[in-house]
Amino acid sequence: MSSLRAYFDQRAPNWDANQPPDRDEHLRALLAPFAGDLAAARAILEIGTGTGALIPALAERAPAARLVSVDLAHAMLLHARARQPAAWLVEADVHRLPFAAGRAFDLAICHNSFPHFADRQAALAELRRVLRPGGGLLILHNLGRERVNAIHSAASGPIAHDWLPPGDELARLLAATGWRDVQVDDTPERYTARAVRA
Ligand SMILES: C[S@@+](CC[C@H](N)C(=O)[O-])C[C@H]1O[C@@H](n2cnc3c(N)ncnc32)[C@H](O)[C@@H]1O
Repeated sequence: MSSLRAYFDQRAPNWDANQPPDRDEHLRALLAPFAGDLAAARAILEIGTGTGALIPALAERAPAARLVSVDLAHAMLLHARARQPAAWLVEADVHRLPFAAGRAFDLAICHNSFPHFADRQAALAELRRVLRPGGGLLILHNLGRERVNAIHSAASGPIAHDWLPPGDELARLLAATGWRDVQVDDTPERYTARAVRA
């Protein structure tokens, strides 16, 4: 078992108790700027769902879409299942997704998960592979980069160096890995990126 998976498995039982009480409001606000992408999508892939916190907000914005939520950590998915009995949950690694190429999804969303991807270039290539041409990618964090990186630095174990890059660096990486119309919003309050599969 990877040390990253073990790390999140160990934290799954207390994950929700350690989140702020107004998290649902924050998640809805985080999705609001992307309402058009969500409403237009027929199939959405969420990577790193954890305990499934984003699923209700995604379902509100995209009620007709098929939503598939992936996570590496089995224990996280057990909590997601308890929270969302009807959700489509898949245990998988973003670097090796068990989906066919090209037509499966209209939109991929990485919410608070991108910094943990061991090989970002390979992960972005794999997300491209499963999106239809013209499909969208959202990388979303409801905290600013410095706070995210400080939280990870302060954590012991395998996430200590899982940092979000500066916005211009992420924009260059996306452009270099086959994404167009790249927009990165790297502010003290939040960090979001939107790109389209070229
Ligand atoms: C910081 S948690 C965020 C969970 C949830 N999105 C939230 O905001 O509460 C990151 C999640 O991403 C998952 N994850 C990390 N690397 C992954 C990978 N390579 N493939 C799939 N999931 C991954 C972890 O298991 C964990 O559940």
